[in-house]
Amino acid sequence: MSDFLATKPIDLLLAEARDESESGLRRVLGPVNLVTLGIGAIIGAGIFVLTGTVAASFTGPAIVLSFILAGSGCIFAGLCYAEFASLIPIAGSAYTYGYATLGEIFAWIIGWDLIIEYAFGAASVAVGWSGNLVALFQSFGIQLPPQITAPPGTLLVLYNGQWSRLATIGTQLASAGVDATKLPSAHGILDLPAYLVIALMTLILVIGVRESANFNSLIVFIKVGTVLTFIAIATAYLLRHPQVAAANWHPFIPPNQGSFGAFGWSGIARGAGVIFFAYIGFDAVSTAAQEARNPQRDMPIGILGSLAICTVLYVCLGSALTGVVNYTALNTAAPVAVGIQATGVRWGSIVVMLGTFAGLTTTMLVMLLGQSRVFFSMSRDGLLPEWAGRVHPRFRTPWISSIVVGFFVAILAGVLPISVLSQLTSIGTLLAFVIVSAGVWALRIKRPDLPRPFKAPLIWKWVPLTPILGILISLGLMASLPGSTWLRLIVWLIVGMAIYFGYGRSHSKLRKRAG
Ligand code: ALA
Repeated sequence: MSDFLATKPIDLLLAEARDESESGLRRVLGPVNLVTLGIGAIIGAGIFVLTGTVAASFTGPAIVLSFILAGSGCIFAGLCYAEFASLIPIAGSAYTYGYATLGEIFAWIIGWDLIIEYAFGAASVAVGWSGNLVALFQSFGIQLPPQITAPPGTLLVLYNGQWSRLATIGTQLASAGVDATKLPSAHGILDLPAYLVIALMTLILVIGVRESANFNSLIVFIKVGTVLTFIAIATAYLLRHPQVAAANWHPFIPPNQGSFGAFGWSGIARGAGVIFFAYIGFDAVSTAAQEARNPQRDMPIGILGSLAICTVLYVCLGSALTGVVNYTALNTAAPVAVGIQATGVRWGSIVVMLGTFAGLTTTMLVMLLGQSRVFFSMSRDGLLPEWAGRVHPRFRTPWISSIVVGFFVAILAGVLPISVLSQLTSIGTLLAFVIVSAGVWALRIKRPDLPRPFKAPLIWKWVPLTPILGILISLGLMASLPGSTWLRLIVWLIVGMAIYFGYGRSHSKLRKRAG
């Protein structure tokens, strides 16, 4: 058993980190680039799409509390990521930290689990992108055939001249006294826009658009500008119409409807588990550790800075949105657009639309890119076949793994709804947070001597409070997710174990070196 727990020596990792020829990556990113990289990965479908579903189905205006709860869980895990990223500044992120501290089998689990975060995450964002595209077309009076806009089996109805998913407008129909069975209907076959956008992103990654920091900064500027514009317009509107805010914010915590998660306090907990998705991405900063000029100092700034900025933006946006629109009307693929329409500021709609597309596009790119880096690191360690890390001779990109991942993700995006995809992404990421927090704790015990340029606070010898809170809050958020999501995670991990024992274990380079 003990050889499953073999760890990759920290000194070897530090030597790899110093050896710039090994990765071919250049150290060009400063603290501002790293913060913008984090924001680039964080702001996406969570805030632009899921906010509406969460407010309408679980929390009402108390989504603000869900944002605070999920954000505080992220801060503890973020501190642990920051300690690791400054200590082991190497591209593989949580996978590498697991290898260095807890052993090969944990590294495998975390690497396999990161596929959930990045691949399913990219698929979720693609579905959000598709929902916004359909809304954009509808705003110009163009109706796409409903069958190609939704996953198989989804029931769509034609109401007020627009095709909508019955699940999202059911309450609205009921309160308008409309009998849904009398409306023209159709069933979804494939979410074609979601499928195609992933295919396009994969193509871009294969031919190697070098993700330039300046390009990313421009998009981040647009994204943050969009969120700030919305907050400013909505706040101005609410100051002029305080009676609207008073009506929409009351009751702040709608009473529970009888089952766990349907409003009330349990709704806030489930809402935090689901909206946690909106924070995912600050950990992706750590995958750029080998490209940072001064990782020891700047990785913590990038990780914690982007997290703090997004938490503040989310809390402000959540309260402004539920102030201008009643939460019952927010169950839509484009809730921020609905919010801005309610204020009557027409140019605001264009800004929100632009920002949403820009935001979702970069999030997909960063996630697909992160996925190929994790495959690359795993293949270099021998845990995945050599082809997974093969670099294209001309484009210099890991093209085979990018295409395999892209194909798989495009199908997921085409056939599964965003709720299934995003909840799986959240549970997978939370599991990674648990392992990283445990890893920081384990390394403090095993190697107290290592120079730690950034030390997570509140870790005393007998009471490692930060990792414990990181683990407990992450487990708590995992527990608030539905049983079906747990089942999917468990099946995924079992498949992963079968691959490890069938392939990775016997091909591990670390094991070969030792044996
Ligand atoms: N945080 C990212 C998003 O919301 C994953 O799209």
